[in-house]
Amino acid sequence: MTLLSVDNLSKSFGGLMAVNDVTFEVESGSIVGLIGPNGAGKTTVFNLITGNYQPNTGTVLFDGQNLVGLPTHTIVEKGIARTFQTIRLFQNMTVLENVLAGAHCRMRAGCIAAMLRTPAQRREEEEAMRQAMGELEFVGLGKEWQNKAKNLSYGNQRLLEIARALATKPKLIVLDEPAGGMNDQETQELITLIRAIQDRGITVLLIEHDMGLVMRVCSSLVVLEHGAKIASGTPAEIQSNPRVIEAYLGADSE
Ligand SMILES: Nc1ncnc2c1ncn2[C@@H]1O[C@H](COP(=O)(O)OP(=O)(O)OP(=O)(O)O)[C@@H](O)[C@H]1O
Ligand SMILES: [Mg+2]
Repeated sequence: MTLLSVDNLSKSFGGLMAVNDVTFEVESGSIVGLIGPNGAGKTTVFNLITGNYQPNTGTVLFDGQNLVGLPTHTIVEKGIARTFQTIRLFQNMTVLENVLAGAHCRMRAGCIAAMLRTPAQRREEEEAMRQAMGELEFVGLGKEWQNKAKNLSYGNQRLLEIARALATKPKLIVLDEPAGGMNDQETQELITLIRAIQDRGITVLLIEHDMGLVMRVCSSLVVLEHGAKIASGTPAEIQSNPRVIEAYLGADSE
């Protein structure tokens, strides 16, 4: 079953075609990698999927519904959560507060109820807290919940972003260079974590330059160059694709 279908998507900035007629599908339950050289348009594709940018042409179908034109918060409610290539956390807030910021998008009690602190609102808050702690445990940051985000290592800040994304209860999580700045051991643990996310039934779309991670964790890959899709297929197919080797992987990528 197809969860996400990107069809003929294009986005230009001035005269530059950052994304040029890109089409690909993400099967429900899969881990799909979006790869390609710097400036290929990968992050722009994510920004188009999550509503941060509007495409010039094309559609983004999620669960059979076109997301184009919807605001980012509506897209989160529909079940797409993301992390950012450049970490975006509330640096002076605690680890737990950062995750609660994700969980809040699912809370039903309105502002009036929040001010009156009705029992329903309190229950919801406790539930959000429990859930946020659960996500922190899941990514391995349970012990850090009281720490300020800015005091975490770079790798742990990336994990915190993942916890915050998971707290929105997504069907699809899109990760923009999750291993960026991680050491070998952290990258190893990240691979285990991404598989654990998949085991929860959450579909994963990721951008990554670490080919060791990509080739081990992804079931299929989409390759971009200069905004256009130049290949798609299994990791084995992509690794032996002459066009991809020339554009990105290089001859010594094996
Ligand atoms: N908001 C913007 N305004 C103008 N140009 C932009 C904007 N966002 C991206 N671009 C340009 O679009 C092209 C694609 O950028 P994008 O960030 O999508 O690449 P990328 O594949 O994610 O690269 P990297 O691997 O370096 O993160 C680049 O030439 C970039 O400079
Ligand atoms: Mg990018």
